[in-house]
Amino acid sequence: MVRMTTTADLWHHYGRTRAERDRGVPDAFHWTWSQDGGPGCEVLGDLTGGAVGDLGAGAARHAAHLAIHHEPAEIVAVDASPAQYEMATDLYAHLAPRLRITSSDAVPHLQATKSPYDVLYSVFGAVDFTDPRALLPAAAAALKPGGRLVFSTLAHYLNGAPAQPDLLAADISVKTPEGETASLRRWVLQEHVWVKVLDEAGFTNVAAEVLPSESDGPRAADTLLVIADRQR
Ligand SMILES: C[S@@+](CC[C@H](N)C(=O)[O-])C[C@H]1O[C@@H](n2cnc3c(N)ncnc32)[C@H](O)[C@@H]1O
Repeated sequence: MVRMTTTADLWHHYGRTRAERDRGVPDAFHWTWSQDGGPGCEVLGDLTGGAVGDLGAGAARHAAHLAIHHEPAEIVAVDASPAQYEMATDLYAHLAPRLRITSSDAVPHLQATKSPYDVLYSVFGAVDFTDPRALLPAAAAALKPGGRLVFSTLAHYLNGAPAQPDLLAADISVKTPEGETASLRRWVLQEHVWVKVLDEAGFTNVAAEVLPSESDGPRAADTLLVIADRQR
């Protein structure tokens, strides 16, 4: 049975098995789908003393790495899923106050931000699963002028089909906490589509790079890494 619901937490299962056996703070920060190569957090720029936000942080492993291995004034790990918030809190609440784990949809969080961010990023997070026409303007407004947004996203669909040449989402199949099938919207866009929507949202200096998959498995995928600066 396919059930469309707005209340089930469709991220309930994500990362759950790993959280049971791996409570550590990762030694490295990866952008790639396979989480085992490519550039690291140096593409975020110097984080020292800065305000940093992870949009769609999941269990907050990337944010925990930045909190421990770098010196931002604060890193806010934002996630809309109550299950992910609970998991992140269980794993990394002890990293407060440098790490602040926040339960919220990224768009209202960004819209309510009083002191602007220096850097925002998303690792296959909120940028992939939120209408870019809502999220990207909110991100631009929540960044300081010249502040940076970096995100990694799929360079193509997981079945190998090319990314969308237009600003269109696809429905992907996921499981509810009870194991029933449901669907989520995911934006898998070609580079020129990201460039246009970022430009319209108030970003400049947009650069994108495909990071090829380093493995061959059935769910292997190339990553598109996108870097953009908020207009000054
Ligand atoms: C594929 S997971 C990635 C999590 C994490 N970045 C990682 O690499 O492990 C996507 C996450 O984005 C979150 N998410 C999706 N849309 C969001 C939104 N609009 N606001 C906040 N979180 C969102 C989901 O709840 C989920 O935890």
